[in-house]
Amino acid sequence: MANSIYEVILAIEKARPRAVAVLTGAGVSAESGIPTFRGAGGLWEGLRPEELATPSAFERNPLQIWRWYEWRRNLIRAALPNEAHRALAALARISAVQLTLITQNVDGLHGRAGSDDVVELHGNLFRARCVREGTVVPAEEAFALLPPRCGCGSLLRPDVVWFGEALDPQHLEIAADAVAGAELLLVVGTSGVVQPAAGLVSLFRGSLSVEVNPVASAISPLLNFALELPAAQALPLLVHAISRGLK
Ligand code: OAD
Repeated sequence: MANSIYEVILAIEKARPRAVAVLTGAGVSAESGIPTFRGAGGLWEGLRPEELATPSAFERNPLQIWRWYEWRRNLIRAALPNEAHRALAALARISAVQLTLITQNVDGLHGRAGSDDVVELHGNLFRARCVREGTVVPAEEAFALLPPRCGCGSLLRPDVVWFGEALDPQHLEIAADAVAGAELLLVVGTSGVVQPAAGLVSLFRGSLSVEVNPVASAISPLLNFALELPAAQALPLLVHAISRGLK
């Protein structure tokens, strides 16, 4: 059952957490106008992300996959970070707080809101990687020609993690240590169905974990509190509660 924001604010103020881990998913960017993967608006030309974000889909049709990514990159470039991204950037500036911000998002909006050292588990859409050499290059602007190619002539691919690919073990270790050592865990805007990111939640050992999601997710039962609110509404209040508790 969902909790009230007042209950959660009181619990946070009482616990005065300093070590905070935050795991975000596509829902944190929903109010910036970026469609989530699952749910209404999550499809692209009738295809699901699991059919597009795979190495085999790219091998079969790199042009189609790049068209999907260019569509998303354009959308994100034109979008702005919202109050949830900004609240999390403000949380990092509270000197008594040790924050680890972990995201499954590849949109870079946490960084644009002012968050440094974001653990981007699934990579970033504004970098590309040569499929042959592995060289990573910045790719802020739209490509003039699709699919784009590296100077060596091979295809470039988005520098993101696709289904069936492994996450950077260093990122995973930082994320796992942060969740295991946190006094407060916030899980924001994720359906909790994609591993290993979703599994991080089960590493939490504390008693103050809060889900922010307008609907219950696959991992809701693992969390102590559920706030059925949009992220941009809840996060500023939660960050304020952390700050007030530490005063
Ligand atoms: P999903 O699209 O699976 O889930 C988004 C979640 O956000 C849903 O549970 C929504 O209810 C919730 N949501 C929607 N609007 C919200 C709002 N305003 N505030 C808070 N929550 C809101 O996205 P992810 O869980 O992030 O992976 O998906 C995980 C991974 O699957 C992605 O990183 C991507 C995808 O395929 C790769 O690309 C490897």
